[in-house]
Amino acid sequence: MPLIIERNDITKMQCDAVVNAANRLLAGGGGVDGAIHRAAGPQLDKACKKLGGCETGQAKITSGFKMPCRYIIHTVGPIWTGGGMGEPELLASCYRESLRLAAEYKCESVAFPLISAGAYGYPKEAALQTAVSEITAFLRGNDMTVYIVVYDRECFQVSRKLMKDVAEYIDENYIAEHFMARNSRAFIPDLQKGATPPPGKGAAGFFGSITQSRAVQRKEIPLADRANEEAPQSAASLDELLDCLDESFSQMLLRKIDEKGMTDVQCYKKANIDRKLFSKIRSNADYKPSKPTVLAFAIALELSLDETNEMLMKAGFALSHSSKFDVIVEYFIKKRRYDIFEINEVLFSFDQLMLG
Ligand code: APR
Repeated sequence: MPLIIERNDITKMQCDAVVNAANRLLAGGGGVDGAIHRAAGPQLDKACKKLGGCETGQAKITSGFKMPCRYIIHTVGPIWTGGGMGEPELLASCYRESLRLAAEYKCESVAFPLISAGAYGYPKEAALQTAVSEITAFLRGNDMTVYIVVYDRECFQVSRKLMKDVAEYIDENYIAEHFMARNSRAFIPDLQKGATPPPGKGAAGFFGSITQSRAVQRKEIPLADRANEEAPQSAASLDELLDCLDESFSQMLLRKIDEKGMTDVQCYKKANIDRKLFSKIRSNADYKPSKPTVLAFAIALELSLDETNEMLMKAGFALSHSSKFDVIVEYFIKKRRYDIFEINEVLFSFDQLMLG
């Protein structure tokens, strides 16, 4: 996953380089700057003094000293004064210059804080958007793992409407399926067909319909008839399954990339998957990926829900409504919203694994 958003203390990140949100004097301070100077030890201060300061939007590099990283890249973000003094461009330059230095020093991994989003007052959501767009632009032409280390959840001002829609979707699907898994004896014909609880009632409506449906007697079908009744369908699904076994996940992925007119690079970059993992998948027809990896490719290829389920099945998975992660990803696929970073922000907000 070339871009990873992670909640952590940046001084704990074990990367090749950690980026410091510094000031123009490189004299240390509070926030990230203070934490890094404390973690790196007094030698960092001596090294900074030799650099002769740093202009806003620029970046300079020192050793990591006692920090668990080889280098510390010091960059100076703009002080927010409303956005009319070139702040967005200066902030973007901080990411570009820091990444340029990291590449120059052959770093394979870099961790960024949200530059300017603290004492310098830059609106957090705008700061995150600039970070994601500059880093993804860089990753289109470079192989590196980049972390955005967020310290507080408020960094994600995922739109209230989106969070509400996703929460309602989880409520209607996740609870229904989850509850049914624990109450499989309560045969509920209407919900078996995927119906959802009475609108607007969520769990309460669902539990209410359970009470009514418990009165429903299961339609008993003699075993022999049941087998015959289902035979044509099960025979067909068995053929389909056998047919599906002919094409592996890896083969379906490469076929879909061609069908979509994408290049391999475009696809794995859009899926937020690193080149090494993609080349493993490409070179091994029987490669078994993780479920988040399969779903990341489904999003990158903008697959329908049926195509996504087909691709999951080839890797030995299925979407399950007893998994909040699956329900959230299903929501975005059904809405045909394929921005992997928007999905990851919502997954992050629900404390779920991220795609890629
Ligand atoms: N790890 C990760 N993120 C952190 C940490 C930490 N240990 N400490 C703070 N943050 C987050 C803040 O929550 C904020 O979102 O980093 C972001 C940047 O905050 P600041 O450190 O205040 O940086 P900035 O807004 O760029 O202001 C820089 O503050 O510390 C002084 O000397 C520094 O003058 C400079 C100014």
